[in-house]
Amino acid sequence: LSSSSTYTTPPSVLLLGPDNAGKTALLTLFERGSQPAATHTSQVAHSIELNASTDSVTRSSFRNHDDATGTHTKFFLVDTPGHGKLRNVAMGRLARTEKVKAVVFMVDAAALGEQDTLAPTAAYLYDVLLFLQKKATSKGKDKASIPVLIAANKMDLFTALPATMVKSHLEVELSRIRASRSKGLLDSGVGMDDVGSEEQDGWLGEYGSEKFTFQQMGEFDIDVEVLPGSVLTEEPGADKWWWWIAQRI
Ligand code: GTP
Ligand code: MG
Repeated sequence: LSSSSTYTTPPSVLLLGPDNAGKTALLTLFERGSQPAATHTSQVAHSIELNASTDSVTRSSFRNHDDATGTHTKFFLVDTPGHGKLRNVAMGRLARTEKVKAVVFMVDAAALGEQDTLAPTAAYLYDVLLFLQKKATSKGKDKASIPVLIAANKMDLFTALPATMVKSHLEVELSRIRASRSKGLLDSGVGMDDVGSEEQDGWLGEYGSEKFTFQQMGEFDIDVEVLPGSVLTEEPGADKWWWWIAQRI
């Protein structure tokens, strides 16, 4: 009997990113299909089940839950708390969730021009990317290259940086963090060829490169894309993110 009821867990997509980025608002928007709900600071992870279709007429819209014409893929969308003191909750989810097919790292594009927001946002992203890099290079059965969408949210606000600048600001800050975390290693006079694999393992992206770029994650088969959107307004809305997710589950 048990053979006829093979239970398979649907894949998961994790919503990560600093507090106030709009993660919970996005989850409620996808869940309801119309308007996002009012939110409070999240203190626990929360997951919902969604269906995405990649072959119906409205495939690129998150409103395609209602569309009965296509084939749907069931998946879990997992919201996590962004507060720095709860970082272990989010990173724990990333480490323990089964079948993670994609990570959506949400940022507040309207606040990213401020160093006060950029620095902690990039520090968090650095930890996530390094975790994924280690996972991609591991030899165990958990080895996987998980793609990352950087969802540049709040594009409706006039202070919002365009997606290209969200990308370049983050790359500059990630380069800075990488340099400071590996301080001593490169200035120690040790030649590039003499460095042990342990040091290389702790280095994000192309080893020894001066500037970090998201493209360097391609070495580990990790695709990183930055796409603009807004949870609160129809334009540019959240459809681009939905379509990115739908293609990866
Ligand atoms: P934590 O739970 O603390 O990690 O934050 P969060 O990422 O879940 O943020 P949340 O969804 O609670 O949104 C924070 C605030 O940003 C709320 O007041 C939202 O209404 C607002 N917000 C979310 N998306 C947008 C957007 O696209 N534009 C604007 N203007 N505000 C937004
Ligand atoms: Mg939240």
